[in-house]
Amino acid sequence: MRTVVSRLIHSRASISKLNAMTISKSRRHLSTDSNKVDEPFKVEEAETINVPPPPTEKLLVLGGNGFVGSHICREALDHGLSVASLSRSGRSSLHDSWANNVTWHQGNLLSTETWKEALNGVTAVISCVGGFGSNSHMYKINGTANINAVRAASEQGVKRFVYISAADFGVANYLLQGYYEGKRAAETEVLTRFPYGGVILRPGFIYGTRSVGSMKIPLGVIGSPMEMVLQNAGSLSRIPLVGPLFIPPVNVTAVANVAVRAATDPVFPPGIIDVHGIQRYNQRKSK
Ligand SMILES: NC(=O)c1ccc[n+]([C@@H]2O[C@H](COP(=O)([O-])OP(=O)(O)OC[C@H]3O[C@@H](n4cnc5c(N)ncnc54)[C@H](OP(=O)(O)O)[C@@H]3O)[C@@H](O)[C@H]2O)c1
Repeated sequence: MRTVVSRLIHSRASISKLNAMTISKSRRHLSTDSNKVDEPFKVEEAETINVPPPPTEKLLVLGGNGFVGSHICREALDHGLSVASLSRSGRSSLHDSWANNVTWHQGNLLSTETWKEALNGVTAVISCVGGFGSNSHMYKINGTANINAVRAASEQGVKRFVYISAADFGVANYLLQGYYEGKRAAETEVLTRFPYGGVILRPGFIYGTRSVGSMKIPLGVIGSPMEMVLQNAGSLSRIPLVGPLFIPPVNVTAVANVAVRAATDPVFPPGIIDVHGIQRYNQRKSK
């Protein structure tokens, strides 16, 4: 359970001097007979310390039993957050011990409203709900389901909403029209309903270990070397039509790191973060 904050260290002023200065300054506000200005408070050094996050922080991961969602749940638990997940199948086939520390809700974002109870007391939501199929199915699952979630969260007073969207893939956008139209519609809803606490991550291919039942599929075997080759090929990704194929893949742990940070750090800037932004934020965090 770690939240990083900065503590200011000053050379001459001890806490008691600081208190004395505060008192003397507030007295100046009340009296009119003194124009004397105190010596300015001088900050010489800043030190980073770890303090636990407020115990009231509660995260709901939509699709927490999926590939990205399960990594996000683990990351959030490592940060000491209270974590719940909502999906159609609930806990599903996850056998790992960390899963015992998640509260699993079963519900369909496209059906009746009973799933909204999962939002009680929730301070931040991360949505990993998405999928493929026919164009109309893709629009529903990537768009409508998430739009329903964004609206319910905003009505419930949730402070921050993070949506795992997807990078533009040029020609693929055309072939998977329902997928991308759904993603963009959900993004618009996040930015409209959460102008100060809405963050959208747009990764390309996400690699890592995907659990399918009791099997673990190591997608990093392809993804990791591709990321190394393509992460410095920024200009190639701007070539019309084929350029998006050069978008570097990103590790699922990086997506999870940045998503949890975006959901819990009140000064994390709202808006859209592409794959290069995800890599940058991830590196910044791990320093
Ligand atoms: N994997 C990648 O390479 C990649 C790349 C770019 C973007 N993304 C995006 O990242 C997100 C997560 O991807 P993923 O690979 O982790 O997908 P995933 O493993 O298929 O997870 C999708 C999750 O959504 C839940 N879900 C689907 N429909 C739902 C509904 N109507 N109501 C409630 N829950 C629902 C699923 O659980 P149930 O089936 O139990 O409901 C599952 O937990 C998706 O939005 C995807 O488009 C993924």
